[in-house]
Amino acid sequence: MEQDIATTLLTQEQIQSRVRELGAQITRDYRDKDPIIVGILRGCFIFMADLVRELPFPCTLEFLAVSSYGQGTTSGEVCLTRDFPMPIEGRHILILEDILDSGRTLDYVVRLLRQRNPASVEICAFLDKPERRKVDIQARYIGYQVPDAFVVGYGLDYADKYRNLPYIGILKPEIYNT
Ligand code: IMP
Ligand code: MG
Repeated sequence: MEQDIATTLLTQEQIQSRVRELGAQITRDYRDKDPIIVGILRGCFIFMADLVRELPFPCTLEFLAVSSYGQGTTSGEVCLTRDFPMPIEGRHILILEDILDSGRTLDYVVRLLRQRNPASVEICAFLDKPERRKVDIQARYIGYQVPDAFVVGYGLDYADKYRNLPYIGILKPEIYNT
């Protein structure tokens, strides 16, 4: 695994300290709101596990899965592959995502959840690649902005691999250009 990584972008220590800060910020905003935190599978799973343990207040955890018909490292049309049954009308929703890239995935998920009349919908994305945005979408909480390079680890994959890398690394371009 390690030999496929060009450089370490974020160490485990940097990730942990930023997740703590996000947890504190989200706690200030949501502690009395009994929110539903919706993780987008599968990329969110490590970030979500770390972040929710920084939230010392009641909340409900749900999961959505989406897939996008795209080639290689780009995303195309998004579709829902796993929904959750819990009603969200009148509830405060915080969506957790691994990375905000073109914005198409989160745009789709926000629209989908808004149709169910929640009290509010906000986004927390661990990483943000603003240079790649195709859709105008704002995340209320961002862990780190990253350059336009393909990154893996801490839940993020390439071709279903590298999610278990404990830090964020830039994948060697020859891995996905072959
Ligand atoms: P978007 O719909 O283009 O914003 O892409 C969001 C999804 O694409 C994320 O949930 C990731 O699964 C994937 N993605 C985008 N950029 C990267 C990356 O650099 N590494 C791994 N996955 C990525
Ligand atoms: Mg992915």
